[in-house]
Amino acid sequence: MAKKLRKAVFPVAGLGSRFLPATKASPKEMLTIVDKPIIQYAVEEAAAAGITDMIFITGRNKRSIEDHFDKAYELEAELEAKGKQALLDLVRSVLPAGCRCIYIRQPEPLGLGHAVLCAQPAIDDEPFAVLLADDIIHAETPVMAQMARRFNAENSTLLGVEEVPREQTSNYGIVKVEQPEAVSTRVLEIVEKPAPKDAPSTLAVVGRYILTPAIFEMLAAVKPGRGGEIQLTDAIAALLARERVLAERLSGRRYDCGSKLGFLEASVEFGLRHSEVGAQFGAYLRRLRETSG
Ligand code: UTP
Repeated sequence: MAKKLRKAVFPVAGLGSRFLPATKASPKEMLTIVDKPIIQYAVEEAAAAGITDMIFITGRNKRSIEDHFDKAYELEAELEAKGKQALLDLVRSVLPAGCRCIYIRQPEPLGLGHAVLCAQPAIDDEPFAVLLADDIIHAETPVMAQMARRFNAENSTLLGVEEVPREQTSNYGIVKVEQPEAVSTRVLEIVEKPAPKDAPSTLAVVGRYILTPAIFEMLAAVKPGRGGEIQLTDAIAALLARERVLAERLSGRRYDCGSKLGFLEASVEFGLRHSEVGAQFGAYLRRLRETSG
């Protein structure tokens, strides 16, 4: 019988160079959309899929991520003493109930594939999810839950995919699939960041994966690819020869928070949806448009 999906890996050891100087001393994953760091959105999404073990692959300057998900004794005591129960509950729910965190250090930022390989000691012989916090996906059913449902039915490696404009293929891993219109279909080919004219399709892998432990053997054998990094895409390409890999079209609105524009779009749209400030923020944006138009 297929093993239940219990573990998620969050690679958070990248340099975040597109957000310098903000990421000089603090991690990109702690950048905040309205009032929550982007890593918290990803952890909440994993928990909504029934995942309990949150494995962070960390690097330099990442201690604030550990602190964020840790118990904050002094802050909690202070809030309790002041009778600020709602804030206390908020602080205590940062790590979803029933979840635990595991931190593994990636000694050098040798690529996403290398970061995933660093998770091996915490995974054993189980399937696991990988979530890149940069991609925040707003969806009625959280996307990892969409993928977990498919995984439970199919028991195959699963890549979350989305259609992108052809001029953007060089930002993504691009897949060629058996049935291009299907929600879930077999992957025939995967290429890392192809130029638009070389891309086998416009179906891009976004930051969500469910992998089987077979990927570790592939990752260990992969030679550094683009930019001298160990690419997860190359390991998945090697896996295609050995086992079935499926692409799952995700249903939801994705924000690429690893780019400045995507981050701003997410800030505006989450701001507009926010229960506390949404209405006022919407009124402000309308006024701004009138005065600047
Ligand atoms: P990115 O390609 O977005 O790189 O990594 P980055 O360093 O985070 O950001 P830029 O491009 O320099 O602005 C994709 C994901 O893989 C992780 C990153 O933390 C991010 O979640 N990663 C990347 C690692 O954990 N280790 C690495 O060696 C490289």
